[in-house]
Formats: sequence, C-alpha cells, structure tokens
Amino acid sequence: MIQLLHRWIWHDAERRARKLLNFAETEADGGRDLVRAAELTQDPTLRRLYMVHAADEQRHAALFRTRGAALLRALPARSSATAQLNWISPGERGLDDLRVHSESDASLLAFLHLSEKAAAGHFAAYGEAVRTDPPTHAVFQEVLHDETFHMNYTLAQLNRIAPQRRLSFLWRARLNRLWKAYLRAMSAIAGVMGTIVLTLQYFVLLPPFAFLAKRAERREPAGWAPVQPERERALESQY
Ligand SMILES: [Fe+2]
Ligand SMILES: [Fe+2]
Repeated sequence: MIQLLHRWIWHDAERRARKLLNFAETEADGGRDLVRAAELTQDPTLRRLYMVHAADEQRHAALFRTRGAALLRALPARSSATAQLNWISPGERGLDDLRVHSESDASLLAFLHLSEKAAAGHFAAYGEAVRTDPPTHAVFQEVLHDETFHMNYTLAQLNRIAPQRRLSFLWRARLNRLWKAYLRAMSAIAGVMGTIVLTLQYFVLLPPFAFLAKRAERREPAGWAPVQPERERALESQY
C-alpha cells in the first residue's frame, strides 16, 4: 500500500524534480552541521568520521541537485505548483533539525543513528518507486549505500563511547524524534485549520460589508455635488 503511494508520488516528473532539489538542500545543510560537529568534538576518531560523513552528505546534495535540475530541464515549460507531499515522503529528515551545539557526543550519535536508519528506509522505498527512471533510481541506490554506512558507524561509535548507557541515549533520541514528529503534525493541522477558518471568514463575514457598501453607493448622488457653504473655507486650511 505504502509502496503504491510512493509510486504515485514519484510518478509525476515535476514533483520528482522538485523533491530531489529539496532533498539536496537538506543533505547540504546536514553536511554543514556535521562539519560543525567535527569542530566541536574532543574525540579524534569521531572528528574523522564526522568529516567523512559531511563529505558524503555534500556528495548526496550534488547528486540530488544534478538529477533534479536535469529532470526540470527536460520538462515542458508550465506552472510549478505541484505539491511535494513531503510529509509522506521526506528526505533525510533529522539532519534538517540537527542542534549540534546542544548535544553531547553520545546523544548526537544516537540521534544521527536513528535519522540515518529512517533515511535508509525512505531512500530504499523511493528507489523502488522510481524504477522506471533508471538515472534517479541509480542516485537513490548510491545514496542508500552511504546512508547504511552512516547508520552503522553511528551505532558502533555509540557502543564505543557509551557502552553502558547506549540504550538510554537511543530511547531519549527516539522520544525526541517522536516529539518533533508530533510538532510537525500539529503545525500541519494548524495550517489546514487556519486555511479553513480564513476561507469561512471570507465567505461569512465579508458579504454583509459588501452589501452595506453597495447600499451606501446607491444612496450617493452621481456626478459632481455643490460644496456646502460651511465647508467653503477648505482652501484656507489643511482640513
Ligand atoms: Fe545523505
Ligand atoms: Fe546520511
């Protein structure tokens, strides 16, 4: 069922292109955060791994951007209003709201592990959904290979630096991701409710004012009207 949904979402070439460009932004942003994480960590092994990871994310950004741009160029000129439906098929979510400064090495690794694991699952599904577009399929395959490495090294490093508290860090990261998912869902619902309320206001509150304005307009005499004698001094003052 989900696979069918993904196939439908990725079927439209314009949406595919825009989603790839959107993924490229997230990957590039994640790469920058990982460089910052490499600067902040005191652990030389982690610093090296974060730099490799950052380079991977930059490469993913380039792959997505190149393929997205190629797809866009191949499209006939038309409007760009296709919804991306990112709430159903997000990219490497997690990297987009990484708070490198407020994390310890262990909590950052736990968070990264879960984000990379989710990303690997998503990219595997998208790769399957775009089998009819071999170049895009190849991009997802290449990215998936790296995401699997990211998923594994973050867990291995978490085991190394916090072997006793590994599970508690993972659970905290899981709850954190759940909380962020809840906030995303609530803001989406708030957006829909806002649209409904504003539309209702438009159709319910505005018509009486339009009616009153029309009625006032009908009472207004047409053409020029003589100035009342008490307003004759108008040119002597500003009012
Ligand atoms: Fe990535
Ligand atoms: Fe990644």
